[in-house]
Amino acid sequence: MSATIGRPVARVDGPAKVTGAARYSAEIALPGLVHAVLVGATVPSGRITAIDTRRAEAAGGVLAVLTHRNLGPVADRQPVLIPSLGGGPCPGQTFFPMLDETVHYAGQHIAIVVADTLDRAEHAAELVSVAYEETPSVTTVEQGRAQAYVPERIFGGWMPGRASRGDVEAGLAQASVRVDSTYRCAANHHNPIETSATTARWDGDLLTLWDSTQGPNATQLTVAAQLGLSLSRVRVVSSFVGGSFGSKAMIWDHAALAALAARHVGAPVRLALTREQMFSSTGHREEQEHHIVLGAGDDGRLTAVRHHKTSVTSPFDDWADPALACSSGAYACPNYENAYRLVRGNTITPTFTRAPGESAGMFVLETAMDELADALGLDPIELRLRNHADVDPESGNPWSSKGLKECYARGAELFGWDGRDPRPGTRREGRLLIGTGMASAIYPVAPVMTPQRARARLYDDGRAVVQSSFADFGTGAATAMTQVAADALGIAVEAVRFEYGDTALPSTVAAVGSAGAGVVSAGVHTAAVQLREQVIARAVSDTGSPLHGADPAGIVVLDGCMALRDAPATGETYAEFLGRNHLTDVEATGTWTPPPSDRYAAATFGAQFAEVAVDPDLGTVRVRRMTGVFAPGRVLNRTMAHSQLMGGMLWGLGQALLEATHMDPAQGRWANPSLGDYLVPVNADAPDVQVDTIEVQDDVVNPLGVKGVGEIGMVGAAAAIANAVFHATGRRVHKLPITIEDLL
Ligand code: MOS
Repeated sequence: MSATIGRPVARVDGPAKVTGAARYSAEIALPGLVHAVLVGATVPSGRITAIDTRRAEAAGGVLAVLTHRNLGPVADRQPVLIPSLGGGPCPGQTFFPMLDETVHYAGQHIAIVVADTLDRAEHAAELVSVAYEETPSVTTVEQGRAQAYVPERIFGGWMPGRASRGDVEAGLAQASVRVDSTYRCAANHHNPIETSATTARWDGDLLTLWDSTQGPNATQLTVAAQLGLSLSRVRVVSSFVGGSFGSKAMIWDHAALAALAARHVGAPVRLALTREQMFSSTGHREEQEHHIVLGAGDDGRLTAVRHHKTSVTSPFDDWADPALACSSGAYACPNYENAYRLVRGNTITPTFTRAPGESAGMFVLETAMDELADALGLDPIELRLRNHADVDPESGNPWSSKGLKECYARGAELFGWDGRDPRPGTRREGRLLIGTGMASAIYPVAPVMTPQRARARLYDDGRAVVQSSFADFGTGAATAMTQVAADALGIAVEAVRFEYGDTALPSTVAAVGSAGAGVVSAGVHTAAVQLREQVIARAVSDTGSPLHGADPAGIVVLDGCMALRDAPATGETYAEFLGRNHLTDVEATGTWTPPPSDRYAAATFGAQFAEVAVDPDLGTVRVRRMTGVFAPGRVLNRTMAHSQLMGGMLWGLGQALLEATHMDPAQGRWANPSLGDYLVPVNADAPDVQVDTIEVQDDVVNPLGVKGVGEIGMVGAAAAIANAVFHATGRRVHKLPITIEDLL
């Protein structure tokens, strides 16, 4: 058993963050640094008929004003517009702005102003005057419903626009109970504390970007393609990233624009998005309408599921957050059908946002399951157990690991579910109506296509440096990876220093889809094991070593000391071995190549429980407590996993009761682009959150069996709350967020 993995080690980057020593991408101090500010289109659709930059250019300190007229050269002005995550194309926005006068969405970047100080750049940006010829815009499902289409593929080509198995009509004909409802889920924005920022510097033809990103390599790949540079000419550094929630997964145009501005003015450029620009320049979870039909027999077994979604995408990309995948895979059901309907609208391409897909999809499915339980007079957990998917319903493949039944059981015990009176509207405390609800959680273990690399080096003082390019955007990845390396090397966590957040280091995939912990740890573990095995192999063939001639398989390393498992007293430390051989260090680079993923289905599972108190006179909902039990495979750091899962559950609370970005269809713009008007849960909203994990062993997904905790905590949380609201009030709300008006 590992002495290191799982331990609640404190964040290795914590002291730098709390003392202010951490430097974020908009805080990099460089000699001669100048400042860029982006100007966004104020209309959602049309053409720039005139853009007058003379006053801005004449303002104090201004070095340049770039527009579509003078931006070039951008790789042939027809850049390879393939945003990239881990080495291949990904479903990001394929449009690059400022190449012509067309305006496709409000906020689209139409000018960059560069000045010697930020204040002067901001002032000059206000002096850029633009005239538009505006054309009619479409920004909501309501406006575009008539022209909705089902695309061939969605999500950058990764998923089909529709899917089916069996015969849904026949399944519905067999059903003795049906639920059939339409749901509306608000658009959401990410709202990380640190806004996106890029600092760009050219040294000859070598470009360095300090970028706030979930994947330094993704920024490198995207910007290199956009600017027509070879990868080795672009280095991306992301030492500290202040949150993301999906907003920094895709690489948006400001990174390349910062590089172009820096090249134009011949000085390093800092470009940070404003809070308001975070609502128009880094994507969002799209507003979506769902229609779900469930059919079940008297025994509660599902006979058919039909699940359709309609949402707005950009003019360029067939993006839909993949909200229908969960209804296909969550329960055993022979007859299934889904379809994504898209409306081409005047918005930026939507993007990954906190449990993309599952958070909205499971709200819908799990509310519908609760209705089914109510209609059948079955306990909600019992209904789910009767529909438990023993194998993946889509492929028929076994799961790599599951643990869902254990999550239900443990969650029910912790929450006190047993003995619940299912009748709605019957439990009161004074004037408050009290209710409880539950939901399942499922989140896929994302298949990874690219090899994951890391380098480990041991020094003659017994310390190690381990390197991998990933960014820690607040997840605790740097700490967890330090533990993984220490564990494989057999040294103390304190003896390991991790270097990360830099494409000059061995490459890894961007941390998206909760995959960071699983895949990065695979590379780190591989490198560290190779280094340990290398030193052991050299020691047993070294005539000066007490281990000379021993069987390498019988040697273990504890606290940096290599010794025979059976004779721990005879051995030597790494430091002694290096010293005797006059070596400052030894190192190994490891590469983990993901195995083909066609024999197993892999997902993380969990169970969510919530209790609410509803004031029937005011329509207010307070979440009193939440319990979440998850089976995320191996847990690398208990504290950090707990924080991730708790954070996810609270984001679920936000989605259920608070979060909405409202589109003003007349203006074609978001009406509430600020942290004052976009409500997120704060401490005063946060109930007692109880988090527990079931440690299932998974020998398939990656060497350490890590399935990830990044997003599963959010999945199902909104449904558990909505189901509790029904239990409290007898009112079924098919919309997110659930607001006061819905309950009056
Ligand atoms: Mo995460 S929302 O998949 O970047």
